[in-house]
Formats: sequence, structure tokens, C-alpha cells
Amino acid sequence: MAIKETKEFSRGMRDVVAAETTISFVDGENNKLYYQGYDVDDLAGRVCHDETVYLIWNGDLPNLKQLRGQQRELVGEMRLPDGIIRLLRDIPSHAHPMVVLRSLVSAMGMVDPEAEDNSLEANLRKRVRVTAWISTLIAAYYRVSQGLDLLEPDPEQCLSYNFLYMFRGREPDPEEQKAMDLLLMLHTDHGMNASTFAARVTASTLADIYSATASALATLKGPLHGGANQHVMEMLEDIEHPERVDEFIDTLLDQKKRIMGFGHAVYKGEDPRAKHLRTASEALCSRADQARFYEMSHRIETLVREKKGIFPNVDFYSASVQHALGIPKEFFTTVFAASRVAGWTAHVIEQYADNRLIRPTSKYMGLYGRKFVPLEERP
Ligand code: CMC
Repeated sequence: MAIKETKEFSRGMRDVVAAETTISFVDGENNKLYYQGYDVDDLAGRVCHDETVYLIWNGDLPNLKQLRGQQRELVGEMRLPDGIIRLLRDIPSHAHPMVVLRSLVSAMGMVDPEAEDNSLEANLRKRVRVTAWISTLIAAYYRVSQGLDLLEPDPEQCLSYNFLYMFRGREPDPEEQKAMDLLLMLHTDHGMNASTFAARVTASTLADIYSATASALATLKGPLHGGANQHVMEMLEDIEHPERVDEFIDTLLDQKKRIMGFGHAVYKGEDPRAKHLRTASEALCSRADQARFYEMSHRIETLVREKKGIFPNVDFYSASVQHALGIPKEFFTTVFAASRVAGWTAHVIEQYADNRLIRPTSKYMGLYGRKFVPLEERP
């Protein structure tokens, strides 16, 4: 006998409204993204990542004094606790950077004395801390895994500069910093994406901000979400030469395989972030003597649009941009996380402010009313 279920099931929870938010709006019909009411197309290339973080956290763009104040706060929290550095040094150098990040953000919850204080004041301090720590952790793991010394952030500089400096060990030039700012600002927030939902579900149980961030990191890692950028780079490396693109993509499409960095759950057309990264990719690849990565990407885009009618998403050109900035592909998703943590923490605080336990339901499709048979009588 089957139970009669009348509930409506939405596969992948499409169009289910799980929260009210003022942080960002993904307008899928018109292929637009808004941060606190600002069209991201108006912000791209005109604001640095720190300004976007301020906007996402406070609802308004900062003036110079506010920006400098936030910068000082963030850089002031970038130093990792000694216990975390000891843990980092014990991690095998082949561990995937997203696994390291997910694990060490959890460990942060053990060393922060305010971890269990869920007051608004403590959470505002912790969102600065976790945002600052994530950038340092990524750079520190890279350098430890390469046998390099750890570097201190420059207190006069912003997040994008300090990330590149602490990671690569050399000061970024203005073009590189501009590209890094663009990359980070375009990833800051994105409506009810999977990792943000995970963060909000965890926060809705009144678990702490580190637990919510660890949930978000675990969710971002997957190749259908933030993990896609690493897979895009692997595809570009497999293709190797622009003249091999057509055959490679035709084979993938014939085999009904997914092309990483394409398609989107909400946008009907092109992800508005992709065009900004396309332009950045062209410029950066050419100056880094890697023009073939842009050429291959552009050809892939043309073919997939023509043959499948789908468009690149934020992860597609992010791959060649990050590669040109000298970031190894295994770290690409951590860079996404270094930016999105600002969005996650904004959502966690928004969730706490008007919380109700997120507890959806499921449509039961199994058996019902079965007769129990004791162990000794089972055939
Ligand atoms: N390559 C080939 N076919 C695709 C792709 C793709 N990248 N994306 C969607 N499709 C096809 C899919 O095969 C299906 O076709 P059919 O109806 O014939 O079976 C149809 O489009 C609908 O697919 P879906 O999985 O139901 O669509 P969705 O809206 O749930 O998928 C997505 C969204 C992002 C998971 C998907 O487009 C995908 O797998 N893309 C590749 C991974 C990727 O780039 N992820 C990054 C997402 S955006 C930024 C982020 O969150 O990190």
C-alpha cells in the first residue's frame, strides 16, 4: 500500500522561496545581478572588492573614511592564530585546498574565544575575522605546501592586494590588482545559491558562524557550484591548442557530457558576471603570454552557444583569469570562497535577525502500512 501524498515537489527546490533578503537579487529573466540595489554592471571595474564587502555588509557604499576603517579592521584580523599555523604545517601537501579550508574554518571555531557567543556584537566581529582569516589561510596553505615562508599582510593595503601578495610573494602590479578586485567583487554574493542556502540552514539552527561557514565551504566545493572553475582549467589544459577545441567540444556534446562553466540554474541567458571576466581574461592572458587560454575559451563559448544554446557562467572565464594571475587551478575555488565569505556571513546575520528553523518537507514515495516480521521469523 502507498500513502497518498498531495504535496508539490520542486526538483532542486527551484522557485521555492526559502528566505527574505535585502543583500542581493539575481534577476534571471533579465540576466541581471544587483548588490543591495546596485546593478553589478555599474559597479564592475569601478569599485574595489573591499567596497563591495562594505556594501554587502552595511547596505551602502562606503565613503573613504569608512572604507579605510573597514580595511584596517580586516587587515588587523588577518594574522592566523598559532594553533592554526601548527595544524597547517601538519597537513599533507597533496590535500585539496578546499578540504583544507573547510577543515581549518571548522578549527577556527575551536580557537576563537568568541566562537560560542551568538550575540550580534560578537557576530559582527566574527564576520570580519572569518573573512580575513580565509584569505590568509589560502595563502598560508599554498606557501606551506610549497615549502615557502609565510608572509604578513601590508596594513596599508586592501584584501585583493594582500591576498595576491601573501599568496605569490610579490606585490601585484596595478593591472593584476584591478583584475583581482574585479574577480572578487563579482563573486561576493549571489542570491540563494547552494552554499548560501547551506549557510542559512546551519545558521537557522542557531549554530555559530564558523559552523555555517564550514557548511557553505563544503557545499561550494562541488563541481556543479564553485568547483566548476578548476574543472574549466582542466578542460583547457586537456584541449591544449585552439585548433583542437572543435573536436573536443563536439565529442563532449555527442557524449551528452556537461561542459563546465556553462549553464545556470537562474539566468535564462548569459550570466552578467561572465562578460566582465571575458574582457579581463583577454587582457590578462595576452599580457601573461597565455593568449591561447583566452582563444580556446572564446572558441568554446562560441561553439557551446551555437550547438547547445547555453552561455558561460561566472566560473568559465574565472579559470583563465586566475591562471593568468599565477594561481594554481586547485586553489581556484578557494579564491571564490575568499570572496563569497562576505556574502555568506551577511546572510547568516540576516538569518539570525529574523530566524525560524529552516525545515522543509519531503514527499514520501515509499511503502506504508507494512506488517512487522520479528527477526527469527524472517526468511
Ligand atoms: N553542459 C551541457 N549541458 C548542460 C549544461 C552544461 N554545462 N548545463 C545544463 N545542461 C543541460 C542539461 O544536460 C539538461 O539537458 P537535458 O534537459 O537535455 O537533460 C538541461 O541543460 C538542464 O540541466 P539541469 O541540470 O536541469 O539545469 P540546472 O539549471 O539545474 O543546472 C547547472 C544548472 C549550473 C548545475 C548546470 O548548468 C551545470 O551543470 N553546469 C556545469 C557546472 C557549472 O558550470 N557550475 C557553475 C554554476 S554557476 C556558478 C556557481 O554556482 O559556482
